Amino acid sequence: MKKVLITGGCGFIGSHTIVDLIEKGYSVLSIDDFSNSHRQVLNAIKKITGQRVQNIEIDLKDAQATAEAFEKFGPFDGIIHFAAYKSVGESVDDPFRYYRNNIYSLINVAEAAVKRGVDRFIFSSSCTVYGDPKEIPVTEDSPLLSASSPYGLTKQVGEKILMDLASTKPGFKAVLLRYFNPAGAHRSALLGEASLRPSTNLVPIICEVASGKRQKLTVYGTDYPTRDGSCVRDYIHIEDLAKAHTGALEYLLDNKPSNQVEVFNLGIGEGITVLEATKAFERVTGLKLNYEIGTRRPGDVPAIFSHYKKAKRVLNWNPKLNIDDIMRTAWNWEQKRF
Ligand code: WQD
Repeated sequence: MKKVLITGGCGFIGSHTIVDLIEKGYSVLSIDDFSNSHRQVLNAIKKITGQRVQNIEIDLKDAQATAEAFEKFGPFDGIIHFAAYKSVGESVDDPFRYYRNNIYSLINVAEAAVKRGVDRFIFSSSCTVYGDPKEIPVTEDSPLLSASSPYGLTKQVGEKILMDLASTKPGFKAVLLRYFNPAGAHRSALLGEASLRPSTNLVPIICEVASGKRQKLTVYGTDYPTRDGSCVRDYIHIEDLAKAHTGALEYLLDNKPSNQVEVFNLGIGEGITVLEATKAFERVTGLKLNYEIGTRRPGDVPAIFSHYKKAKRVLNWNPKLNIDDIMRTAWNWEQKRF
């Protein structure tokens, strides 16, 4: 049985990927310091899969603790490195917290991987590496423009670190997965987005407004050059996104990559505006959302979405869920969440 290390395994994408990996027969170990994830996630994974996943609670910014964890709990056939903070808006307000957390943890995990001979590495990257694209949909060959937020910069730096590492280690192979907007929740409603810090992302905020946890949604700007003036994003269901990771891992472990580093855009190729997303929630739930139009949020780009031709061709990835499925599962989770 192949053993995979999942850093940030108790986070939103990490936890859903662990569920898919277990269902596909992998053995997983999680490292998560719970700085922005909920301890109940491990119970939820047990309820869904029947398996109690071991989580090592260390801070990956601590190089020694990271190296010791690799030595004590390895060897690993592969690593999926999720551990990072991921809010565009929050990174603008607190850049050094993002630089320190996202870059130090990657350096320590990559260095420990090399020292312990783990040479199959999947990196949780982001569409924010494209900055404010001149042409959409973006492809994996689109230029990496100036990042529009410190969060996006940490992902650009992370990709470059792994590309440099691959250039010096012939056996090292990496897949960089550039996510668009992950959202939704597990179909069981036992698992979903459960950040400890207040969410800054649109879909969880919509759900919190609908449940009364938040008074209202502020739409950050309707004066953008888009079809209804609000920003366009490519929302991808978390269960489709999890499947892409298992596909990328199989691709690496079956030694299929011809290049040492392969990049995949993980979007579904549908641009949805903020106002359209809000209407999708109202349509799916039958609830009326209390929202106001506010000013633009620093760090936002007007529009970005991607097709997934390369992930479909190479990883045989076929996303099946849409914005209505995202809103339905997110709302089910919001009503049952821990
Ligand atoms: C989406 C749109 C906001 C909240 C996310 C992840 C990031 C990366 C890219 C993976 C924007 C608007 C939001 C609100 C609003 N994914 N909005 N009112 O910034 O696109 O980034 O996807 O790496 O990790 O954070 O997502 O959900 O914050 O914003 O109007 O209260 O919704 O302005 O246009 P974003 P988001």
